[in-house]
Amino acid sequence: MTPDQARSPASAQATSVGSPANAGSPASAGVSRLSGRRAVVTGAGRGLGRAVAWRLAAEGAGVVAADLNAEDLEQTVAGSPAGGAIVPAVADCSRRDGLEQVFDACATLGGVADALVNNAAVLSGGPVTDVAEEEIERVLRVNTIGPMLATTAFARRLVAAGAPGAVVNIASTTAHIASLPGLSTYAASKGAVLAYTRAAAADLARYGIRVNAVSPGWIRTAMTSGIDDESDAPLLRRIPMRRPAEPAEIAAAVVWLLADDAGYVTGTSMAVDGGWLGY
Ligand SMILES: NC(=O)c1ccc[n+]([C@@H]2O[C@H](COP(=O)([O-])OP(=O)(O)OC[C@H]3O[C@@H](n4cnc5c(N)ncnc54)[C@H](O)[C@@H]3O)[C@@H](O)[C@H]2O)c1
Repeated sequence: MTPDQARSPASAQATSVGSPANAGSPASAGVSRLSGRRAVVTGAGRGLGRAVAWRLAAEGAGVVAADLNAEDLEQTVAGSPAGGAIVPAVADCSRRDGLEQVFDACATLGGVADALVNNAAVLSGGPVTDVAEEEIERVLRVNTIGPMLATTAFARRLVAAGAPGAVVNIASTTAHIASLPGLSTYAASKGAVLAYTRAAAADLARYGIRVNAVSPGWIRTAMTSGIDDESDAPLLRRIPMRRPAEPAEIAAAVVWLLADDAGYVTGTSMAVDGGWLGY
């Protein structure tokens, strides 16, 4: 596909990797919005990444689920819903070598990946006065450099194949507001992800590759196991819906951004936060 063809709506229809006939129909109606797609999900061993892998598979996509933890990945594969295959890839998604293995694993699904969810991340807490240089480097490596390297590896393969695709970067409300004390390193890593999302979208639009972000608020996962409804009532009071998200509620937004329904959406971020950012 030439850059001009990629910009043309008619061409977008002709080369669409989803199923236009299914556009706008909910998964609950038994329609597969990602049928025929091949997706990579990083950090898919547990939490949001696992929920995203399951939802993409349920929508008909083949999924490479990547994570550092092999045992967790086994459970992700074991719980896979009918509809799409999930292939595990044990790899460090913050390093080029690991990411090359992950994208190579897509061959077992029949071709290059046309969907990427940059989800792997680490949470790091502590006041600005205490944070160690090594910790800053670790967090930026996993949360920011990893998604950048993954997007590069993903886009190179897609451009070489002349095919369109979509990336969703998992950011955070902390990229938008100073939501909680002690999260400066994590917040900076996610703020950079948002800036990268906008700039990469501008770069890759001519190839028919869209890049967007989802900014979750508080999700019930292992990452936030130290937070509970009772001791963190002040946090809940800042969320108009007065509850954390279930991982599946974030996964639903990821599906929409990857699917053809979002065909004219790129370079933006969607808050899925129970109203937190608007309050
Ligand atoms: N939980 C929340 O409240 C919350 C809020 C906003 C944003 N987020 C974001 O959502 C995403 C998922 O978070 P979660 O709550 O599911 O976290 P989690 O800690 O439960 O899961 C993260 C997964 O990423 C994997 N991982 C970490 N480093 C990796 C690496 N280098 N290579 C491969 N895999 C790696 C871990 O092994 C783990 O399976 C993250 O990007 C996180 O920043 C979470």
